Amino acid sequence: MSKNKNNKPVWSSRINKDTSYIFQKVGSSLRIDKRLFKEDLRGSIAHVEMLYKQKIISLSIKNKIVWGLNKIFNEIKRKKFFFNEKNEDIHMSIEKRLFEIIGEDAGYMHTARSRNDQVLTDFKLWLRDSTKEIIKELNLTMKIIIKNAEKNINTIMPGFTHLKNAQPISFAHYILAYMEMFGRDKKRFKNNLENLMENPLGVAALSGTSFNIDRNYTTKKLKFNKPTNNSIDTISDRDFVLDFLYSVSVCSIHISRFSEEFIIWNSDAFKLITLNDKIVTGSSIMPQKKNPDPLEFLRGKTGNAFGNLFSMLTILKGLPLSYFKDLQDDKELVFNSFDQIKYSLQILREILKNFVVNKKRMLELAESGYITSTDLADYMVKEMNYPFRKAYQVTAKIVNLAEKKNKRLDELNFEEIRTIDRKLDKDILNVFDLKNAVNSKKSYGGTSFENIKKMIKKYKKELND
Ligand code: ARG
Repeated sequence: MSKNKNNKPVWSSRINKDTSYIFQKVGSSLRIDKRLFKEDLRGSIAHVEMLYKQKIISLSIKNKIVWGLNKIFNEIKRKKFFFNEKNEDIHMSIEKRLFEIIGEDAGYMHTARSRNDQVLTDFKLWLRDSTKEIIKELNLTMKIIIKNAEKNINTIMPGFTHLKNAQPISFAHYILAYMEMFGRDKKRFKNNLENLMENPLGVAALSGTSFNIDRNYTTKKLKFNKPTNNSIDTISDRDFVLDFLYSVSVCSIHISRFSEEFIIWNSDAFKLITLNDKIVTGSSIMPQKKNPDPLEFLRGKTGNAFGNLFSMLTILKGLPLSYFKDLQDDKELVFNSFDQIKYSLQILREILKNFVVNKKRMLELAESGYITSTDLADYMVKEMNYPFRKAYQVTAKIVNLAEKKNKRLDELNFEEIRTIDRKLDKDILNVFDLKNAVNSKKSYGGTSFENIKKMIKKYKKELND
């Protein structure tokens, strides 16, 4: 076993000089990966218990190591642990401290493993828990979306395409669109768990080990589903990192699209919603200002999530198998994306709890832009048996007429409408009623009030299951 004296690295028996100070300083990942201390201790305990069970180490050495590791856990918890950047990373730091506590027997801990599989084990354990944490954050967010929908089933607003008034919708239907997006995010994070359930521990540096280890035992102990199949792939694989960073990126896109929409709707030009004072900030010079900074912050942060994903993709591209120092950056990227998506979802919930829907203004805007034109064309198809293309043309002429007369569609009188097509009947005027228009979209997934009520029930049930 290598002696681990004083402040020397474990490889000091081979490498005679201290690593250059600048590389020690910059190349150390301790400030980042100390976040993995719990997982590292857990992984090491499972490993030495397996070594003992397989008669590779004695009971007394195993007990000594486990005792030392538990002591280190308490030291870190109580902030009594000295994190020395010289020790490169959390794995070396813990091993070093174990030597200080129990002496030479600490050297048995690293039998039949490498830092390569150790890091991966810690990282997968951490990502497993963190992925579940994000799923919980998503659930909480989805519950608030439902509350907003419930309060706004009858709130009519313009639905937009190209940011031009398209067809009237219910605000509840709009906000429930985000239930679907966050539902897919949840599924994506859940799917990632499958790869995270494969245990890397025991593949050692890259080729496996000549010791008679039991990988199924550590798999069970660490609550993985199965050991990984190929030692070289295991060390080289960061697909699970990409999956996480991608899932965070997609979820960020959803948050960002929502933010952009709310920024527009909160603008003085639209005024469809009003943000509560809790989620705006002021200007240093313009006393009247209430700026939607939190929304802009969320939209901006999305770039950071993409950046992390692209960094990892780029690190992996062209990297030969198996371990290279390049890979060390994976943790910083993941921790950063995790923190970001977690606080982004929390900020999003604050926004969802602190805004007012300007129902009157929504209705007013929905009354402009000839928004019931499609309903008018549909009426001609249903009631007059016109082919849709003909109905479209007649409707376009009616819209042109309204535009010329500077009237809304519902302000045209029947005589004016009849100048376009003699066959039109008086009950055509009902078509312009926005409530009717919204409620007529009864096709599955459409904006009718009944559909929305059914969907809310379905989402509630799914969230409580
Ligand atoms: N801190 C390193 C990382 O996270 C540990 C892996 C060290 N392995 C090695 N062969 N140098 O990537």
